Amino acid sequence: AAEQFEHGVLNGKRVFITAGPTREALDPVRYISNHSSGKMGYALAEAALDAGASVKLISGPVTLTPPARAECVAVESAEQMLAAALDGIDCCDLFIAAAAVADYRPVDVAEHKIKKGSEEIMELRLVKNPDIVATVAGLAEMRPYTIGFAAETRDVIDYARSKLARKGLDLIIANDVSNPDIGFNSDDNAVTLVSADAEVSLPQASKRRLARQLITQIAALYSRTDS
Ligand code: CTP
Ligand code: CA
Repeated sequence: AAEQFEHGVLNGKRVFITAGPTREALDPVRYISNHSSGKMGYALAEAALDAGASVKLISGPVTLTPPARAECVAVESAEQMLAAALDGIDCCDLFIAAAAVADYRPVDVAEHKIKKGSEEIMELRLVKNPDIVATVAGLAEMRPYTIGFAAETRDVIDYARSKLARKGLDLIIANDVSNPDIGFNSDDNAVTLVSADAEVSLPQASKRRLARQLITQIAALYSRTDS
């Protein structure tokens, strides 16, 4: 409900949001990807706009329509997503990494369609992709308040806490994707915000409603650091 949303909590703030999956090309017609729908990132973009922010939405391929008021950058690979994330980062106040970035990409991208050979087993060589949110969190100057997500199937809060520390984030939003009612492709989600000194749980709700609650919580935590 609109009345439960505090308008203007991000007035004048510049927010970058990554969303959706990335696609890592194998050849001109094939890629490695995942089932991310982009719903959470798009809902966060909408909520941040409603809270008064100017939003750059950096999105992998999804079927959603981006909010008209957002500046949208469509990307495919993790490397393209990183380049779009760093473009103008010195003006960014809050960086929210909601994308499901492919952890690895093929070492070689074939120039032509790979033909089926006689072998029964085909091996792919993969190389680790750059970590976008860790790169942003590690910036020496003009570093934005940096927020990541942690989708986990077990020991959710413990893994989220270790990701918060390892990536040098200000905040991580943990969700348990072992529950089929929430997470990845679902319309609902339930999350726990984890920072160095706080833990706030938001119960299951639509991604739209949850995004509004998240933006309110994020703005409150951010305002403690923004002086
Ligand atoms: N992330 C990123 N760039 C990557 C991988 C992840 O920006 N190359 C971001 C995601 O957008 C998310 C956070 O890092 O905000 C956590 O992603 P996750 O996949 O849970 O973490 P990983 O470090 O990749 O660990 P693992 O997949 O092994 O759990
Ligand atoms: Ca990952």
